[in-house]
Amino acid sequence: MIVTIDGPAASGKGTLARRLAEHLKVPHLDTGLLYRSVAERVLAEGRSPDDVEAASAAARDVDLAALDRGRLSGAALGEAASRVAAIPEVRAALLKLQQDFARRPGGAVLDGRDTGTVIAPEAEVKIFVTATPEVRAARRHQELLARGENLRFDQVLADIRRRDERDSGRSAAPLKPAPDAVLLDTTDLDIEAAFREVLKIVRRA
Ligand code: C5P
Repeated sequence: MIVTIDGPAASGKGTLARRLAEHLKVPHLDTGLLYRSVAERVLAEGRSPDDVEAASAAARDVDLAALDRGRLSGAALGEAASRVAAIPEVRAALLKLQQDFARRPGGAVLDGRDTGTVIAPEAEVKIFVTATPEVRAARRHQELLARGENLRFDQVLADIRRRDERDSGRSAAPLKPAPDAVLLDTTDLDIEAAFREVLKIVRRA
């Protein structure tokens, strides 16, 4: 069974996807890490995240086994990732690797922005997770403080809004629910309650 969980930054999709994959005993791919690792490489080369050539070359070189969530989940890489992610050539270079992952025998859970719309439209279960920008910013703020990144709440909220706008407004695979996705609003749900809802959606399918 393929399960896709899409949604905006800090909606809870990543945590829910990880927990669901553990529960179902199938592999999980956090597709945001792919764009973050492309951004990391481009920045390390001293190039701009908007540099089509540098970003496409980095995307063609991504190694799934080398993705390290701890290293990649900072605020600056999130911002740079959303810029490389708007480049169609970057998305094209990362497509096959994600589709191969989704189609592993035995199934998989993928989370990101376009996993239900572009990567695996054939998925048996598609969930689109949302929450208000303020609640998402509060969650991300806590995560970043725990990483030792001392940003102010209003900076995190501004970053979330900017990324929402860029991810939803781009022409290549914009952030939007698949027509057959189940919407899950986690604004008033803690992670346990949200996970119970995810399990209900999966069981129904
Ligand atoms: O989910 P995360 O915050 O790690 O994603 C970083 C950025 O990567 C997002 O803001 C988005 O621009 C991009 N992304 C994407 N498509 C995906 C996953 C992430 O465009 N499937």
